[in-house]
Amino acid sequence: MSDTPVIQTFELSKRFREVRAVDRVSIAVKRGQVFGFLGPNGSGKTTTIGMLMGIITPTAGSFALFGASDPKGHLAARARVGATLETPNFYPYMSGRDNLRVAATIKGVGNDRIDECLEIVGLAGRGRHRFRTYSLGMKQRLALAATMLNDPELVILDEPANGLDPQGMKEVRDIIRILADRGKTIFLSSHLLWEVERMCTHVAIVRKGQVMKVGTVAEIVSEQVRALVRVEDAGALEAALADYPDATGVQTTDEGTVISLRSDDLAGLNRYLAARGIYASHLSRHQQTLEDAFIELTRGDYGSMTEIAS
Ligand SMILES: Nc1ncnc2c1ncn2[C@@H]1O[C@H](COP(=O)(O)OP(=O)(O)OP(=O)(O)O)[C@@H](O)[C@H]1O
Ligand SMILES: [Mg+2]
Repeated sequence: MSDTPVIQTFELSKRFREVRAVDRVSIAVKRGQVFGFLGPNGSGKTTTIGMLMGIITPTAGSFALFGASDPKGHLAARARVGATLETPNFYPYMSGRDNLRVAATIKGVGNDRIDECLEIVGLAGRGRHRFRTYSLGMKQRLALAATMLNDPELVILDEPANGLDPQGMKEVRDIIRILADRGKTIFLSSHLLWEVERMCTHVAIVRKGQVMKVGTVAEIVSEQVRALVRVEDAGALEAALADYPDATGVQTTDEGTVISLRSDDLAGLNRYLAARGIYASHLSRHQQTLEDAFIELTRGDYGSMTEIAS
């Protein structure tokens, strides 16, 4: 039972006329994960969250929350979820604390967790101040506090760091860390790679409604062995690589030529090039960042990587 994913989607899909906003998304979010749903604008992140929260009806596929996959089960499961989507609009003339009281009433939960929620989001000292005096970062943190009023096991956040400055993003990151430390499962959407890379344990990269890749951050970035090579004549290098059986792709970057390899035999690559009169002034293992992976996966043609036929 404890192995039951907190969220599981089965080919979940939503079409708006001809637009496939969410296209056969199948993912599983396990207990304790901080799961990042990462994709560019319009890739279907909000629509997916809307379906999980029962605001948008899927056109195909299904999903389970805490193992419950029927509408009645979804409803019961949502009592264990806190989401930014369901956050009511705050009243500008009321204090942060009073706004949370209103939110608690709407949610049908007591007021006993308000202080703790203000504390978690770092607003304990400002709870009595009017909402309209809050900075954008504070407003967003109050929204996070509101999602926690029912002490949810699962927290779903749609772009929690959107529009925030680096300090505000750090505050959001710290709050997510606190929640994760308390054993909450977190599902968040973002188009901010750097944020996801720093906050999340798991990532699904989405593009045009489809999941391109899913795994731990480490799995997504380190799967492919690459070498960064600098030579005088990049053209000659590319030509020589056409006959190198270990090479699967080559890409010219500002830093040099990046070669995708089947093995991590960089010495073998160096020997092969030298035997063809190509001497590298630099040859190193090239560590792909999540950003590289993201750009490659979301560009559509898998980036400017030229595939080498094998
Ligand atoms: N109510 C709607 N009617 C028609 N099309 C919609 C509707 N809602 C979303 N879409 C379309 O579905 C696609 C996915 O939208 P969605 O808002 O889910 O993307 P997103 O990943 O959240 O984007 P963003 O990063 O901009 O928030 C887009 O092409 C969008 O225009
Ligand atoms: Mg969105």
